[in-house]
Amino acid sequence: MNGEFVAWEDAKVHVLTHGLHYGTGVFEGIRCYETELGPAVFRHVDHLDRLARSAELYYMPMPYSVSELRGATHELIARNRLRSCYIRPLVYRGYGQMGLNPLEAPVDVTIAVWEWGSYLGDEGKLHGIRAKVSSWRRLSPDSLIPHAKASGQYLNSVLAKVETLKAGYEEAILLDDHGHVCEGSGENIFLVRDGVIITPPQTASILDGISRKSVVAIARDLGIEVVERDVARAELYLADEVFMTGTAAELVPVWEIDDHRIGAGRPGELTCTLRGVFEDALHGRSERYREWLDVLGEVGGVGEADPRVGGAAERAEAAAEAGLPIEAAAG
Ligand SMILES: Cc1ncc(COP(=O)(O)O)c(C=O)c1O
Repeated sequence: MNGEFVAWEDAKVHVLTHGLHYGTGVFEGIRCYETELGPAVFRHVDHLDRLARSAELYYMPMPYSVSELRGATHELIARNRLRSCYIRPLVYRGYGQMGLNPLEAPVDVTIAVWEWGSYLGDEGKLHGIRAKVSSWRRLSPDSLIPHAKASGQYLNSVLAKVETLKAGYEEAILLDDHGHVCEGSGENIFLVRDGVIITPPQTASILDGISRKSVVAIARDLGIEVVERDVARAELYLADEVFMTGTAAELVPVWEIDDHRIGAGRPGELTCTLRGVFEDALHGRSERYREWLDVLGEVGGVGEADPRVGGAAERAEAAAEAGLPIEAAAG
């Protein structure tokens, strides 16, 4: 937190933290995978660059450079002796100034890491999920900034997710303000029709997903045509295959939408091919996509736990049980 390594039980903020009241924060979701080369963060600098751009869009000067945040994250993972983990950097307006003008409030930075399994479940990743088109539209670029990954904006995703879960489905699909298909509550969406992959464009209020970018590159490398264009809701139901991508969820097939079976009702051929290559890239099994990996050993190395962080193993265990971050740091 703001340049200090802090035990997770001490990683606290004041109740008058600006971001807690007004959602004035930006964040990233990043994953580190255990690979043959050691723990490796997937497209780390791409994520940190997006964090910096999100901060800039909300007029938050980041007190640390991307390279400082990268180094701190490496050290944090090493200190916790994690081989794989989820990484959550957060840049937010802190304590010191209430009211809607955030410009006088400090900009605070935290990074937390913890072990986090498949976001939509191992079963969902393997066999696919059931999704529902939410009655909540994805936030409009007239009101907020879909390209920013900003804390307050996630109330939109939360409403869609809760509606979907209460209705008995596993994930929400949001339409944009024109009624075109946009994305999931925390994933980008793709459909396959007649061997062509189709995904909504930048102008459809999507978050410019890093997994999306990676899967598009993989598909094109495999010689599969990828088209970015507006997608009508009914095209989802008529698709041969549908899948979603995101850092937390990775690549997840969708086999049913609004009670319409998609294709044969199981993960399709192209989905399975792309999932295989994408997972090889994530886990360092692909020489071709090696450049996407930020291997820890190349900066600090993963050795013994730092003696300054007492009881790391116990805390890691307790935190994992509680589904909570283990330690937080920055700078
Ligand atoms: C709303 C939303 N869309 C899409 C994504 C997928 O983005 P990425 O692949 O960069 O994780 C995410 C996750 O960060 C998200 O929260």
